[in-house]
Amino acid sequence: MGMLSRKLGVDLGTVNVMIYAGGQIVLQEPSMVALTIEEERVVAVGQEARDMYGRHPEHIEVLRPLRDGVIADYEVTEAMLRYFFRKISGRMRVRGPEVMLSVPYGVTSVEKRAVHEAAVRAGAREAYLLPEPLLAALGAGLPISTPAGNMIFNLGGGASEAAVLAMNGIVVADSVRMGGMRLDDAIINYIRRKYSLVIGEPTAESIKIQIGAATALPEELSMEIQGRDQVGGLPRTITITTSEVVEAIEEPLQAVVGAAQSVLEKTPPELASDIIDRGVVLTGGGAMLRGIDEYITRNVGVPAYRTEDPMVTAAVGAGRALEDISFLRRTMPTM
Ligand SMILES: Nc1ncnc2c1ncn2[C@@H]1O[C@H](COP(=O)(O)OP(=O)(O)OP(=O)(O)O)[C@@H](O)[C@H]1O
Ligand SMILES: [Mg+2]
Repeated sequence: MGMLSRKLGVDLGTVNVMIYAGGQIVLQEPSMVALTIEEERVVAVGQEARDMYGRHPEHIEVLRPLRDGVIADYEVTEAMLRYFFRKISGRMRVRGPEVMLSVPYGVTSVEKRAVHEAAVRAGAREAYLLPEPLLAALGAGLPISTPAGNMIFNLGGGASEAAVLAMNGIVVADSVRMGGMRLDDAIINYIRRKYSLVIGEPTAESIKIQIGAATALPEELSMEIQGRDQVGGLPRTITITTSEVVEAIEEPLQAVVGAAQSVLEKTPPELASDIIDRGVVLTGGGAMLRGIDEYITRNVGVPAYRTEDPMVTAAVGAGRALEDISFLRRTMPTM
């Protein structure tokens, strides 16, 4: 394990951190940290912190150190990365890992520098950064080194990015700083408005995952949820259905998909015909929403396909990029 963990592909996301090493995903944890409020001492990281969310004592706060795909809390990001690096290198004290990290397309140089520094201070011997859509394309196995155009659409938790790639680079791309978390918010608001019921973020996310869809399903799903009555303050149970979720998330979903539409509008005609033939590949956790492929096919006008395991695709790409030095040489200068 010590040896294998030397080259790490890291998808540092708003919602999840995924790490790929030695040909497989070795870590998959929520991007969350629990801290004591006064001394800012870390008490839990990753899944453990997530499990505390909404049920922690008052001297503790549970937070996400990234927001909309970029670092919002620098020190906490560093602490989180250090914990994850140690976790996968086990007890063996090897030299710090070489890491490739994903950054959202279109981030500022200040935001990039923050990621680089956080990784190095967390123990990385060397840290490289590449844009998430490029890494997602690589992880999806798209032939991006050829002159043909390939399109990727990464639907993350905090940001969504679409890009057309050719000859190892991004030809056009667009990103919106919204993703799955925005859909969760929309579900929270919908249920509050319609049922005067207050639910938390974890409940909203599980509604989306368990019964949610981008478009109406042939067979409606439903689930019982508990919340707190907005007026009386007491707990109450309601049943919610797929078509309600479809309605709740319609607006933010449209905004997210707008990123793909705007990329296609800007794509040079030579490449656009390739995209029409090959379609767009969907990655990121949002690609797992039921019917999202169909929805994008219909609204963007090119066939959409999700990768096999969309949530880990960018981390796989980051690992591959690091293993392929010649790829690095070709792509790094354009970053
Ligand atoms: N089955 C599912 N259906 C719909 N959404 C899902 C499903 N599974 C996970 N998600 C959503 O995917 C999002 C997380 O995806 P991902 O791990 O790709 O994001 P991230 O990389 O952390 O974020 P970003 O790239 O924006 O920084 C969450 O909003 C989560 O709710
Ligand atoms: Mg991501």
